[in-house]
Amino acid sequence: MVGGSVPVFDEIILSTALMNQVISFHDVSGILVCQAGCVLEELNHYVQERGFIMPLDLGAKGSCHIGGNVATNAGGLRFLRYGSLRGTVLGLEVVLADGTVLDCLTSLRKDNTGYDLKQLFIGSEGTLGVITAVSISCPPRPKAVNVAFLGCPGFAEVLQAFSTCKGTLGEILSAFEFMDAECMQLVGQHLHLARPVRESPFYILVETSGSSAEHDAEKLDGFLEQALGSGLVTDGTVGTDQSKAQSLWALRERITEALSHDGYVFKYDVSLPVERFYDLVSDLRARLGPRAKHVVGYGHLGDGNLHLNVTAEAFSTALLGALEPYVYTWTAAQRGSVSAEHGLGLRKKDVLGYSKPPTAVQLMWQLKALLDPRGLLNPYKTLPAHA
Ligand code: FAD
Ligand code: MLT
Ligand code: ZN
Repeated sequence: MVGGSVPVFDEIILSTALMNQVISFHDVSGILVCQAGCVLEELNHYVQERGFIMPLDLGAKGSCHIGGNVATNAGGLRFLRYGSLRGTVLGLEVVLADGTVLDCLTSLRKDNTGYDLKQLFIGSEGTLGVITAVSISCPPRPKAVNVAFLGCPGFAEVLQAFSTCKGTLGEILSAFEFMDAECMQLVGQHLHLARPVRESPFYILVETSGSSAEHDAEKLDGFLEQALGSGLVTDGTVGTDQSKAQSLWALRERITEALSHDGYVFKYDVSLPVERFYDLVSDLRARLGPRAKHVVGYGHLGDGNLHLNVTAEAFSTALLGALEPYVYTWTAAQRGSVSAEHGLGLRKKDVLGYSKPPTAVQLMWQLKALLDPRGLLNPYKTLPAHA
């Protein structure tokens, strides 16, 4: 997404793939302790068999490691319900740049003894230490999961549907994702996934997860009746069995893959007030005109996180110049974040200043110097060069 794990000059590549053991799992608390190289999807299967689920899920689940998820503070598709890894990760074991092992691998829900050091490593993109083990709190596996895929006539209706959804579904709402018509066109064209509802300018995916199938279905029906009756939604389909739910999720999860088949992709991942969310996409479409093949908007609307992607036949500095710093200044003007969940890596490190004041950037440099004075850990990434 941002080149955070791509070696560019003289790096040594470290793989944690063989560190793939579960260390312990407690079936009352749902706390899992495992090594950093465990694959997220495999962990999900492991805890599912014991009545729990991992608190995060994302398109890369089949290959990403829990250590990588923690190092990038990955957000993903369950964030709306279970929150950030900053809350669900309870402890970490980290190897520091000088080889010291920092054992903060506790499994306590509450622990106010001094500074919470593990937070420094969550989202640090490997620049402050190597995570070797993770303790994480897993929520109980929901007994009933429903997925509704709906077409909306405009973005105002998408927002209104989100409000209605929160009001009617309450605690069982577990995801609210959106994608525009161009995304749907691309997953159809490149991945041959069929559109499950009538063509619409926008589509939303609503997931409920709860403990009672009848209760959840009743609530979801109530929402759908209200949304269809008031014209917020013009067509929809619901998946209550796993295979239909998965095929509806695939339409949203596989957008990244579809984009990669469309040409060179300029990727942006911003946090914005939801009311202004789609204005950035529309503004860019008008600004770029035929220079872009596609300008698409999709993402985790329930978390205020827009994925804005622009495809072109090939990379061009002229197109890059039209996109940047425009996207960043636009976002900064709304006090948004220029990287909501993908981090800074190599590609975005120089734009940190659009979302953080100089004093914060300076403090980040001081922390880096303290923990990794020789700059050994994931060099050239995350922090901008010193002034
Ligand atoms: P890598 O790519 O190997 O590394 C990522 C970074 O973490 C690098 O900077 C690396 O140095 C560092 N790192 C890795 N392991 C460790 C470790 N043990 N200790 C210290 N540093 C380490 N992200 C989201 O937030 N939300 C999404 O919805 C989402 N969807 C995605 C969908 C797809 C199809 C793909 C390909 C990616 C998606 N991502 C998403 C990006 C995702 O966050 C990362 O791919 C994943 O979390 C990184 O894990 P990884 O094991 O692949 O790490
Ligand atoms: C997603 O939500 O699909 C991911 O974060 C990946 C992307 O933005 O391409
Ligand atoms: Zn995402």
